[in-house]
Amino acid sequence: MPQSQIKIRTASLDDARNIFLLIQNNIDQLVPRSTSDIVQNIDRFLVAELPDGELGGVICYAFYPEIGEPTKSCVEIKSVCVRKDLRKLGLGRQLVKAQIERLRKFKPAQIVVLTFAPEFFEKLGFKKVPKETLMHKLYIGCINCTKHESPFTCPEIAMALTDL
Ligand SMILES: CC(C)(COP(=O)(O)OP(=O)(O)OC[C@H]1O[C@@H](n2cnc3c(N)ncnc32)[C@H](O)[C@@H]1OP(=O)(O)O)[C@@H](O)C(=O)NCCC(=O)NCCS
Repeated sequence: MPQSQIKIRTASLDDARNIFLLIQNNIDQLVPRSTSDIVQNIDRFLVAELPDGELGGVICYAFYPEIGEPTKSCVEIKSVCVRKDLRKLGLGRQLVKAQIERLRKFKPAQIVVLTFAPEFFEKLGFKKVPKETLMHKLYIGCINCTKHESPFTCPEIAMALTDL
């Protein structure tokens, strides 16, 4: 599918159910999100809309003023997900690039991500950082996860983009 046929746009409330399902279908790699959490943060989601109106992918973000200097808040890219049958077509890259452009305007010190796909983010300029640099995120995002004994035994890799 030519990339020009895919529209990256801000999400609307109409998308909430499909965003929920897309995240749910990739729950091995993503933190689950309830419909109410998605709706409360709907203005932070971008979606990739296909020519038939279906959602091909999503991406969201969250601020962490507790990491680094509060007025130069750290921003996390989260809930990055492309439909399984549409992978390796450039959709993920389009979504991350569009979200970075959006976040750049806020002038954060860094954009971070916790991911099982470090090679994908490396290609977009992210570099590996010690998980200890994101302690607040680990406390509020990972502490209730039951997949691993602790955030430090979880194989997710912490990465940051500082060249903004
Ligand atoms: C990670 C994910 C978003 C990538 O989406 P995608 O649309 O397949 O990625 P793209 O096609 O834009 O890939 C861009 C580049 O990264 C590479 N790439 C994509 N996924 C990769 C992966 N899992 N491992 C290594 N490289 C990867 C592609 O080959 C491509 O390389 P190229 O520029 O040399 O051609 C997708 O695999 C996904 O939804 N995974 C499940 C959820 C997840 O793990 N999200 C990230 C955690 S926040």
